[in-house]
Amino acid sequence: MLDEVVKRCPPLPENSKFLILGAGFSGQHFAQAARALGGNVLCSRRGINKPGADFIFDSNTKILPSIEVLKDVTHILCCIPPAEDGTDPVLNSLKTTIQRLPLKWVGYLSTTGVYGDSEGEWVYEKNSPNPKQLRSKRRLACEKAWQSSELPLQILRLPGIYGPGRSAIEIIDKGKNKMIEKSGQIFSRIHVDDITGAILHLIHLNSRGTRPNVINIADNLPTSNVEVLSYAANLLNKELPKLESFEIASKNMSPMARSFWEENRRVSNDLLCKKLGYSLIHPSYKAGLKDCFKNLQMRAHASKNYFG
Ligand SMILES: NC(=O)c1ccc[n+]([C@@H]2O[C@H](COP(=O)([O-])OP(=O)(O)OC[C@H]3O[C@@H](n4cnc5c(N)ncnc54)[C@H](OP(=O)(O)O)[C@@H]3O)[C@@H](O)[C@H]2O)c1
Repeated sequence: MLDEVVKRCPPLPENSKFLILGAGFSGQHFAQAARALGGNVLCSRRGINKPGADFIFDSNTKILPSIEVLKDVTHILCCIPPAEDGTDPVLNSLKTTIQRLPLKWVGYLSTTGVYGDSEGEWVYEKNSPNPKQLRSKRRLACEKAWQSSELPLQILRLPGIYGPGRSAIEIIDKGKNKMIEKSGQIFSRIHVDDITGAILHLIHLNSRGTRPNVINIADNLPTSNVEVLSYAANLLNKELPKLESFEIASKNMSPMARSFWEENRRVSNDLLCKKLGYSLIHPSYKAGLKDCFKNLQMRAHASKNYFG
């Protein structure tokens, strides 16, 4: 529903040039919308042959953007996760360079993992971060590094990201036959359309002088994974996967997978939606999964036509 994002959006600030650092799933989506709104947008990936790459930025190989790429950039969206050593790949390689640009806004995509475990309670931007997992401690260290960079920064904290091509629809379609059940466990999530829509809304507010430091971008309905997978199975008209208790399933989980189940929180979007006036395109997983299902059908139809 990128067309819906574009239709609703206010115009981009005049004479803006956008740099998307780490244009993977979320970054490419944002770039498409910003271009549809007439924006001048350049995207980095670590290889020039990767889809949507306009230039290479790789902090490991030290391939940095050229002067031509950086010239007159007014807005940066950073979608690159912390490096293995916990430092920030962009600030490590480009901090002084980007400090010299005529920047009006810098967005840093972070995670709601920095809040740690709230035992199922709502978490708000005003809550002090209390990360439990090492990856979330690294993330908080990167947030702090960005905050001390003296750039016109906004930290955007995201829960689980999903969207066309990366959702419970694809998981069920590929034949997942088990759903893990853990009593009282819920997860928050956000559709990639709303990451893009919210960022465009925030950029507009920034151009009018409003820029809160930290914003959660989450939908209205934190829910168990069982509900989400069941809803996807119903849309696909497939049998519901069997339930498996967390106690049994966790015995075969990777430490990374298990760590996601060790935290339980509801992420509030009150600041974004009630105070700053953003209206969600997919208020819950139900609307979001219908969109992913429609997209899967369109892709299936297109490939049938292509291959005859
Ligand atoms: N996935 C989730 O559910 C989730 C939830 C909350 C927050 N987040 C965070 O939100 C951000 C965006 O998520 P996403 O899923 O859209 O990300 P993604 O698709 O994984 O994209 C990450 C981007 O970072 C680039 N990158 C990674 N390491 C790099 C390095 N050392 N130097 C230069 N570029 C580097 C990747 O390059 P290539 O394009 O070459 O691979 C890619 O473009 C990430 O920071 C992610 O950790 C994700």
